[in-house]
Amino acid sequence: MLWRKYGGVRERCADLNPFRPGSTRLLLPASGPDIRWNIHKRKQAHPGNPIRKLYFYNRNVFILWRGGVFLAGYAHVRCHWPDQTLFAYYPNHREWPVGCTIADRKGAIIMQMTTLGRTNLTVSVAGLGCGGHSRLGLGTGGGERQAISIVHAAMDQGVNFIDTAQVYGTEDVVGRAVDGNRDQVMLSTKVQIVKPGAKPTGEDYISADVFVANFDDSLKRLRTDYVDIAHLHGVTPSQYGYCMKELVPALFRLREQGKIRFLGLTERFITDPRHDMLTGALGDDCWDVIMAGFNLINPSARERVFGQTHEKNIGVLNMFAVRRALSNADALDEIITGLIRDGVIDGGKLDADDPLGFLVHDGGAASIVEAAYRFCRHQSGTDIILTGTGNRNHLEENLSSLQKPPLAEACLQRLEDLFGAVDCISGN
Ligand SMILES: NC(=O)c1ccc[n+]([C@@H]2O[C@H](COP(=O)([O-])OP(=O)(O)OC[C@H]3O[C@@H](n4cnc5c(N)ncnc54)[C@H](OP(=O)(O)O)[C@@H]3O)[C@@H](O)[C@H]2O)c1
Repeated sequence: MLWRKYGGVRERCADLNPFRPGSTRLLLPASGPDIRWNIHKRKQAHPGNPIRKLYFYNRNVFILWRGGVFLAGYAHVRCHWPDQTLFAYYPNHREWPVGCTIADRKGAIIMQMTTLGRTNLTVSVAGLGCGGHSRLGLGTGGGERQAISIVHAAMDQGVNFIDTAQVYGTEDVVGRAVDGNRDQVMLSTKVQIVKPGAKPTGEDYISADVFVANFDDSLKRLRTDYVDIAHLHGVTPSQYGYCMKELVPALFRLREQGKIRFLGLTERFITDPRHDMLTGALGDDCWDVIMAGFNLINPSARERVFGQTHEKNIGVLNMFAVRRALSNADALDEIITGLIRDGVIDGGKLDADDPLGFLVHDGGAASIVEAAYRFCRHQSGTDIILTGTGNRNHLEENLSSLQKPPLAEACLQRLEDLFGAVDCISGN
C-alpha cells in the first residue's frame, strides 16, 4: 500500500480517488477531467465558497482552499457520480457543489450537463439510446461485445444517461456494460403494456401482476436493484386509460419499494406524430419524465408538449432526432416527396436534389445528421437528446455535435418556414 503525505494529513492513496474508491474504471477519460472552469463559475454563484482551485493528478483530486493550505482527496471531497456532481467539504463538513460539466485537461467541455426537470438529476445532455433501428448495433449485425463497447465509449465521453427497454433486447447488454459501475449512470428502461406478440397499439394488455413480474426481470437483466426512470412504453391515446387505471398504481408500488426512482411515459411517435397521447397525459400529475418525438421535419412537440412540460417541470427526453429520415438520403427523399404530394409542404421552396443542403456549409453544420442533433439540442424544452447507434465513429460524431452551438438563425428560420407546421410524420 502506498502512503503519501499532503498538508500534514496521511492518506492511503487508494482512498484519494473520490470517484470510485477501489475501482479500476472511471466514468471519465483516463487522462482525468479538469474542472477548474466549473469551480471558477461556482465561486461566483457562492461567494463564500472557500475553494480556490481544484486539481486532478493521477485521478486524485487536490483542493486549494482559501487559507492557502493544499489538501488532498478523500476526506474532503465526495463525488455524487450519479448526478455528476462533485462536492467538497469545509473542515466543518459544510458542502459546496463544485462542478457539473465535464471538461478535458485543456478546459474544453466534452459533455454539457443539465437538470432533468423535477427529478433534479444532473444528466448529460446526450443520452445513449439503446433501441431504434440500431439497438447498439445488435439490430444491424453487430455482436454483444461491440454493443458493450458502445456503452463504455459513451460513458468515457461523459454520457451518464442510458435508455433501454424490455423489447429492445439490450437490457442484458447494458446490465453487463455497467456492472460494477452502476452508480456512475442513470438507467432508464421501459415496460411493455401489452402481452408479448400482441399488436403494440392494441388492447391485449398485460395485468398489473405480470407487469410487476416483467419489471423485476428487467432489474435482473440490468443487474441492478433499481432503475432511475421506469417508463410505460409507447403508449397510444386509446391505451392511456388502461395504463392510468391498472399500471400506474403498480408503478407507484414499485417506487415505494425503492425499485424505481421516477415515473416516465413514452409516446408511440410513429402512429401518434401529433402527440395526442402526451397532450392528454400531461394533465395528470404523476409523470416526472416523458419521452417525445421531436426533429427538424416534425417540430410539433414544441407547441403541443414542451409548454406543458415546462410549466410542470417535467423532464423531457428527445427521441427521433435523426432516425432514418435524417441519416439516410433515400429515406429523406421519400418522406419529402410524400409531404409535397400531400400538400403538407411547398415543394417550390425546396431544392429537389438536396432538400436540406442549406444546413451544411462552411461555418454551419458538417452534415445533416449534425444539424439534426444540434437542432434538437438547442430547442428550449428538451433536456436529454437520445442518440442511437451501433457505430463508434457515429457515436463520437454525435456526442461532439451535441456540444456545438445552435444552428445559424437563417437556417432555423428556413426550417421553420419549410417544416414548422408539419405534424404528420415521424421520420422513421
Ligand atoms: N416510443 C419509444 O419509447 C421510443 C421509440 C423510439 C426510440 N426510442 C428511444 O430513443 C432512442 C433514439 O432513437 P434512435 O435510436 O432512432 O436514434 P436517432 O439518434 O434518432 O437515429 C439513429 C439512427 O441514425 C443512424 N445514425 C446515428 N448517428 C449517425 C451518424 N453520425 N451518421 C449516420 N447515421 C447515423 C443510426 O445508424 P448507425 O447505427 O449506423 O449509427 C440509426 O439508424 C432509441 O435508441 C430509444 O432508446 C424510444
